[in-house]
Amino acid sequence: MRLLVEGQTALQGTLRVPADKSMTHRALLMAALCDGESEITAPRVGEDNRSTARALAALGVELAFADDVWRVRGRGAAGLVPPSTPVDCGNSGTTIRLLAGLLAGAGVPATLAGDASLARRPMGRICAPLRALGADLAGELDARARELPPLHIRRGGFRGGVIDLDIASAQVKSGLLLAGVASGHSVTLSEPAASRDHTERLLTALGAAVATTRDLKGRVRVELAAGAALSPLAWRVPGDFSSAVFALGAALLVPGSKVTVCDVGVNATRTGLLETFEEYGARCVVREWREESGEPVASLTAEASALRATRPGGGALRVDGDAIPRLIDELVLLAALASQAEGETLVADARELRVKESDRVAETVRLLAAFGVQARERDDGFAVNGPQALHAAHVDVSADHRLALTAAVLALAAPGESVLDGFEIAAISYPDFVAALTSLGARLRVRDA
Ligand code: S3P
Repeated sequence: MRLLVEGQTALQGTLRVPADKSMTHRALLMAALCDGESEITAPRVGEDNRSTARALAALGVELAFADDVWRVRGRGAAGLVPPSTPVDCGNSGTTIRLLAGLLAGAGVPATLAGDASLARRPMGRICAPLRALGADLAGELDARARELPPLHIRRGGFRGGVIDLDIASAQVKSGLLLAGVASGHSVTLSEPAASRDHTERLLTALGAAVATTRDLKGRVRVELAAGAALSPLAWRVPGDFSSAVFALGAALLVPGSKVTVCDVGVNATRTGLLETFEEYGARCVVREWREESGEPVASLTAEASALRATRPGGGALRVDGDAIPRLIDELVLLAALASQAEGETLVADARELRVKESDRVAETVRLLAAFGVQARERDDGFAVNGPQALHAAHVDVSADHRLALTAAVLALAAPGESVLDGFEIAAISYPDFVAALTSLGARLRVRDA
């Protein structure tokens, strides 16, 4: 699909974004581990969440989806049926890594595979800690002996225990915790910085004993007690902050714009970009803050703003260290904002970006270049000096959903008409983006290509 975007049309209005992708994955997986029927209201979710639902169906879980509501009949870990063919996790790293933990803990033999992008993503990070705690699973080794999909889970053996992780990854943390729940064993893990904590919050809401502490070096320790039994859930999943940022980011960049996104999850382990908005002097306010089912939710309003990337004492605005996990999925969009902010924005300690759905360091620099912006690639991030003049672009965005959505923001900010080929990839996380932005006044046209 080709998306044609007429730039510099002011965006005005209010919208809701699809249900949070991370939370929906977790809700579906945990519903499968409960005994009884769960009801998860998750409006307009994308392909990644459908991959999780399809994978569970392939494991014998009864689920039905209608009018934005999933009804899941869980029969506990013992009710999962070993699949006779490989389970397709699509494009979704969260699906494959969380499911690997869940199945290894449950002792359900299975092969987990996915699309060409997923087939390149590192799996040693989840397989190695699961193996260290007794699980029997492995990926396929590439020429450099790295474990990649498909993953083969052979049998049980997971005995729980204590493990220190060397990366802050919510996927790895969640895979281990789900292994603990599915096996009934305790799991204590530590990570070098806080990653998103939706799994811990949902487990707690469903009756599991999970405790989180932080030591003086900033390492975060999560302990799941043995014998966790989850009660069925009834939950309306809040809107996805990681999707809301595209309309908000476009509003900041396009003169005359003001956009409100309602009912967005604003868990602090996810909203690092709001800290950068603040440092940029962006006009963005958070209203109607409340807590729903253990997650903070609010409405966010952003208005066209003159962005500044310099620190008060001079020098580049650095985004690095333990802030990175709090905005890991927003860094591509941040690069687009940085191109219009006065001064230098430097993103470091974000090597993880290289192993996302695409190499997001290289792809971000390439995307900016297509719109006329020069950015400096670093091993662990990028640097962008702004403001730089944007021009309309014709670019293929099919490598990665967040790249496609960022391209749309750049195209909305650039003068003239841009052409984005392969825009269907946006449906991984944001299937109704075109309709949503059109409702705000954006001039977008879809063509088959
Ligand atoms: C996710 C965690 C993050 C994030 C991904 C979703 C999750 O990955 O980038 O889009 O739902 O747990 P890592 O945990 O690998 O950092």
